[in-house]
Amino acid sequence: MASSLPPIQSDDSKICVVMVGLPARGKSLIAGKAMRYLAWVGIPARVFNVGSYRRNNTPQPQATFFDPHNEEGERMRRAAAEGALSDMLAWFQAGKGTVAILDATNSTKERRKWIHEQCTAANIETLFVESICDDEDLIMTNILEVKTTSPDYKGQDPELAALDFRKRIRNYEKVYETIDDGEKKYTYVKLINVGSTVIINQIKDYLSSRLVYYIQNLHIKPRSIWLSRHGESEYNLTGRIGGDSNISERGEAYASALPELMRKSGIPENTKIVIWTSTLRRTIQTARHLKAETSFEKLEWKALDELDSGVCDGLTYEQIAEKYPEDFAARDEDKYNYRYRGGESYRDVVIRLEPIIMELERSENVVIVTHQAVLRCIYSYFMNVPQEKSPWMEVPLHTLIKLTPRAYGTEEQRFKADIPAVSTWRGKGTSAKHQDFPADGNEQQK
Ligand code: SIN
Repeated sequence: MASSLPPIQSDDSKICVVMVGLPARGKSLIAGKAMRYLAWVGIPARVFNVGSYRRNNTPQPQATFFDPHNEEGERMRRAAAEGALSDMLAWFQAGKGTVAILDATNSTKERRKWIHEQCTAANIETLFVESICDDEDLIMTNILEVKTTSPDYKGQDPELAALDFRKRIRNYEKVYETIDDGEKKYTYVKLINVGSTVIINQIKDYLSSRLVYYIQNLHIKPRSIWLSRHGESEYNLTGRIGGDSNISERGEAYASALPELMRKSGIPENTKIVIWTSTLRRTIQTARHLKAETSFEKLEWKALDELDSGVCDGLTYEQIAEKYPEDFAARDEDKYNYRYRGGESYRDVVIRLEPIIMELERSENVVIVTHQAVLRCIYSYFMNVPQEKSPWMEVPLHTLIKLTPRAYGTEEQRFKADIPAVSTWRGKGTSAKHQDFPADGNEQQK
């Protein structure tokens, strides 16, 4: 029986999350993450980055552009802020979204007052999120990140870029006013040194409290997340779904190869890594050599178990198409929302994975060995894959995916073990047991 659940509910509030803080305090990282999280749980959200509006006129400004005594610079920066705010208000007005994130320094009380007034007049709640950081190491890491990834410094000498960026920060420091008691009427969160201290003021609605809970779990320390499916299983060989089978001989070869594959992917020195598996045999077996050969701690999570296929557990797609033809067609029609009789939908999996995502955000380096559907959902969170596409993504067996969050997006690397495995990817409208993912891509499956 197909089930169409409504999107995860929020109340009717529309929220503008207003980032506050000096450059190199991780604001864009927080903004980008909050946007991805919201989209992942089904809340339409968009980031309005004032820097990109400014870049339309001044693509690669020098630090002097940001000097508060530079009148022309001030005028252009004000115009960029007005452009972003006006597009944001139009976006809300057009009914396109629930949460907008205004990613800018918003470093003076006057600027915050203006944003608050504009939003209030348009019936939009504001949530100020200030990132304060005096940990020199963290600031330095962010400066390095910006000088290598920001379009402001593209093609420039990295050392000169870092020097200029430091001067830019000093210009902002001249006028920066932290959120203080004079702004108690606003809803705000102050994150001090990446969440080591969090001050929360006046959270009024459910959606804001959920967002604040997410944001307070974030950190901006450099780290990577490794994702792997279990090694090929006995069920994979026969095309059956679900179950709790052992890994095949080739799956065992992958399990043995996994420690070396991890090393090949690059593990920074003196890094603590934790292995997470599901409670099912095939993931535990796949991770066991990695656990034995390293000092990595290991945790088993029920929430990482494969999507529950209910009455179809243990059947092949061919058998499902034969026994439950209507269900088979309904699933193809809306794979994200289709719930197996007595089982789960992708949407259900996302809901049960929310605590995993929260824990992942609190954690540093983690290797997750899990299952196809669960991995698609986790991968979609990090890589911002739209809900309708995520259930059709190809996530091959015997491949390690390394994700490294950066200020301007998540970097992905794939490491394929040279160990053959069946393909468990199934195209829309087919019941083939083992299919190849089309190399030239069929839009819906990319
Ligand atoms: C920028 O122009 O890069 C950012 C403007 C600001 O938020 O101060």
